Amino acid sequence: MFRAARRFGLALAAAAACASVSVAQPVAQPAPTPVLVAADLRDGVDLNGAWNYSIDPFRDGLAGFHGEEAGKGHRRYDETDVAAAEKADPQALYEYDMRRSPVAYLPSSWITQDPTLRHYEGLIWYQRTFTAHLKPGQRAFLRFGAVDYTAHVYVNGKAVGRHEGGFTPFAFEVTGLLRDGENQVTVGADSQRNADSVPPPVTDWENYGGITRAVKLVVTPATFVDDAWVRLTRDGHIAASVKLDGPGAANAPVRVRVAGANLTISGQTDASGAWTGSIPRPRGLRLWSPESPTLYDVTVEAGGDVLRDRIGFRTIEVRGEDILLNGKSVFLRGISLHEEEIGKEPTRAITPASARALLSEAKVGLNGNFVRLAHYPHSEVMTRAADEMGLLVWSEIPVYWRVAFSNPQTLANARKMLAENIVRDRNRASIILWSVANETPISEPRTAFLSTLVDDVRALDDSRLVTAALLADRTERDGHPEQVINDPLAPKLDVMAINTYNGWYSGDALSAVPAITWRSDYRKPLIFSELGADAQVGFHDENGRKFSEEFQAEYFRATLAMADKVSFLRGMSPWILKDFRSPRRQHPVHQQGWNRKGLISETGQRKQAFQVLADHYRKLAEKAGR
Ligand code: GCU
Repeated sequence: MFRAARRFGLALAAAAACASVSVAQPVAQPAPTPVLVAADLRDGVDLNGAWNYSIDPFRDGLAGFHGEEAGKGHRRYDETDVAAAEKADPQALYEYDMRRSPVAYLPSSWITQDPTLRHYEGLIWYQRTFTAHLKPGQRAFLRFGAVDYTAHVYVNGKAVGRHEGGFTPFAFEVTGLLRDGENQVTVGADSQRNADSVPPPVTDWENYGGITRAVKLVVTPATFVDDAWVRLTRDGHIAASVKLDGPGAANAPVRVRVAGANLTISGQTDASGAWTGSIPRPRGLRLWSPESPTLYDVTVEAGGDVLRDRIGFRTIEVRGEDILLNGKSVFLRGISLHEEEIGKEPTRAITPASARALLSEAKVGLNGNFVRLAHYPHSEVMTRAADEMGLLVWSEIPVYWRVAFSNPQTLANARKMLAENIVRDRNRASIILWSVANETPISEPRTAFLSTLVDDVRALDDSRLVTAALLADRTERDGHPEQVINDPLAPKLDVMAINTYNGWYSGDALSAVPAITWRSDYRKPLIFSELGADAQVGFHDENGRKFSEEFQAEYFRATLAMADKVSFLRGMSPWILKDFRSPRRQHPVHQQGWNRKGLISETGQRKQAFQVLADHYRKLAEKAGR
């Protein structure tokens, strides 16, 4: 319906030329407010560390059992010193006490603190105090890197906001609520999702509930740089788009400087506090690439604020069936990752060290230049590490499998997540692809839903490519199986992607896989966004049974032989670097709650297939002279 309205809108616009009707054009998804771009680099009060936590499976802290307001005895967010209240009134009845509750060290999922919470899907309250001393005119924002899945946030007993979505940052202004001195913050983290969520409850990964990414009180001047996007355009300019927030945002001078490139762009915001400027790219600008991941220190000055970021400059585009990085055709030698650190008990606590450990296996171990950060926006720690180390990135939102495509609220949530993800990371040179879906069953509502998301990407970021993991049909040609890509979403994409599992989920013998051919009705580049097979590290079987390392290695040899013959294939991100937790994988001998398609085990032990892929990528790199 979105595209119909669009066409309808355009038709009306033509009609309006002769009449005076006003035409309601589809509105692009607005950026979230505040954006607080590069907030992870801004000054503020670090709120990571020790928080008390209290489980609340029936959500008594949010409402009484008849649906009325939560009772005093359950309102975790109140500023009650329960011990003192009980001492003062022996009749007082409280059935919680945050200050004497157990302590969690954030950011991390609650599985970290208490493994018995592994399959808990519900609400847990977190609380801590912190000291703040704002100077006159300063503003303060509570910023969360992510809370999985819904967050209810309170400061000094007052509600400040609610956020839905487990993998994108959000912030609430608390300037008017803060005391000079000690303050209390309480967060209700609710991991439960329903059929209308994004993603819905059924996924093939562990739902790590909790406050899983950094928490910070960001302090800014009264007028500050809320959003800034600085990039190299395909027509050879450095463009800067800046949005100020505050009383001095309108008609304010702005200056963007790129240290080391002798580049300054100056301008003045309009009445809404926005400004976009550009200049021809300076000679000698060193372009970002996996081989040379050059980052520049960029500052944006306006309204008494100085925003700092580290930004790389490169171009990415499609020409026919080729993907061009800085004007040269590139093959994406990739691997997929979930957001889990290497180790026996991962808890989504992604630090610079754990991010580098994972990405080094991709870049150095596998001779790769590309990672698919599946199936949701990963931590900004990870995308900054990809910028620094030189890995191209596919970034995606969790529009995964059976999403409620006909539900307008679900679409609104997906659009908000997409916008939150893009405005957080569009200064990351490593990111080249925004993906809007993974393996979603084809229907008219689904294709309309995804088309809206594709249009949003183009409105928010015209410098990158749009893709999605599609579904392919299977037919026969000359007695051999042939896969045909004719997904109705494909015409809207820059790059098509397919998850292929011939020989693992299909009945194909591995010996038959190399002969499988691929055909597309669209002259576009294709990425195999997944291919893989389970193997339990250390399980060997001379008959090459499934779950053995030998089977996985032979699966890779056969599938890579098939891939080599696909003329419009321009990349792959096999599934997956590391074994990852999934409640859907319960074989008592080989899986024990882990999806074992990793090329390394959860503790980082490489399997035989690791070397098969590493050798394949080395040869591709040598052939490309990279
Ligand atoms: C699917 C899906 C993955 C899943 C994988 C598997 O393609 O996209 O999320 O983990 O297959 O079955 O292992």
